[in-house]
Amino acid sequence: MDSFSYTQQQLHAENLPVGELAQRYGTPLYIYSRQAIETQFQAYLDGLGKHPGLICFAVKANSNIGVLSCLAKQGAGFDIVSVGELERVIAAGGEPSKVVFSGVAKKAFEMRRALEVGIHCFNVESAAELERLNDVAGEMGKVAPISLRVNPDVDAKTHPYISTGLKENKFGVDYRLAKAFYQRAAQMGNVKIIGMDCHIGSQLLEPQPFADALERLLSLIAELKAEGIVLQHIDMGGGIGVKYEAADQEPDVASYIADLVAHLEGTGLSLVLEPGRSIVANAGIMVTEVEYLKDNGEHHFAIVDAGMNDLIRPSLYQAWMDIVPVDAASQGKNAQWDIVGPVCESTCFLGKGRNLNIAQGDLLAVKSAGAYSFVMASNYNTRTRPAELMVDGDKVTVVRQRESLADLWAGESTID
Ligand code: LLP
Repeated sequence: MDSFSYTQQQLHAENLPVGELAQRYGTPLYIYSRQAIETQFQAYLDGLGKHPGLICFAVKANSNIGVLSCLAKQGAGFDIVSVGELERVIAAGGEPSKVVFSGVAKKAFEMRRALEVGIHCFNVESAAELERLNDVAGEMGKVAPISLRVNPDVDAKTHPYISTGLKENKFGVDYRLAKAFYQRAAQMGNVKIIGMDCHIGSQLLEPQPFADALERLLSLIAELKAEGIVLQHIDMGGGIGVKYEAADQEPDVASYIADLVAHLEGTGLSLVLEPGRSIVANAGIMVTEVEYLKDNGEHHFAIVDAGMNDLIRPSLYQAWMDIVPVDAASQGKNAQWDIVGPVCESTCFLGKGRNLNIAQGDLLAVKSAGAYSFVMASNYNTRTRPAELMVDGDKVTVVRQRESLADLWAGESTID
């Protein structure tokens, strides 16, 4: 079910009218639905069923500690890519023992902190990283649990900027070199081999690339077993897509996971997953106010108060995100509008050619803005980043205050 729907022509976030929230907290404004986050997370648990496994939410998709705490309470683990994300997980009440650490450029101090708090696994992405991790763990008198991120060289059939499992991508180790990597790791005193992982890309709407990657990983795991290297888990990463456009066929999470689990029966492997987008994307919207309308010949522009600094996906990936009126009864002008923001770049737009009724002062909501949206916001053009709210039934919590102007140059100094 959609947690953002209309009652008497007014868009609601669960039980609360979005228009009233915007009036109270200002715009641009991010609003998340707790119910939507919990429902999506539960779909992963349903798919897993009784099979042993761990669902590690990819923190990069939405790292607000309100969101993380909601997932931690549901028993989620977390996939992190920096020590900053690790500290957020801890601040949100997440358990370090349920954390997997991905990323191609882990620094020694980040490894140290992760070893200190006792994370579940390091997803190692290169031979050089393996050497560093063994040294760091050795200096601390610890043993680091590891998995190798294998690059299975499969085409995820998604946007090239968010495809990660081809050999031209910087991620992981080519699957043909994986065996030598494990043999080296097996001889090291301060790492313990526990798994194998991959992540082939994001916003995947078809199951075939996952199936191809799984097959490659399972055959590698069987080869390793024949050599006496026995793994405990397989981590298939994240990547399940969501419906942005009406034509998108959103994969059914529970049945997709159940299919993966079926392939693991009898292997003795538990399943780790790192979903981000499919848990939070449709649990969030971004609300913006129309400042001005302007016509340039045939072009109709609705100039809104949110820009590419607040939500960069349309500018960066030509991502199409649905834009809907907060008041469906708006008496504004009907046209094909380009919804553009205030930032001084031609790429600062939220959507183009949208058929909407718009009047100056109207509120619009960008849908599916729970993932890779606020987290990618910046202060470009010295703009403060928006506030974030979490709605739960008829209760609202400000999970992030709007930035103040003074916050923006707090760490800067003038010169003599
Ligand atoms: N695990 C790893 C190692 C990843 O790199 C990612 C995403 C995930 C898990 C989560 O994938 P998801 O389930 O969210 O697809 N900013 C882009 C998406 C970048 C994805 C990066 N990696 C966008 O806005 O579309």
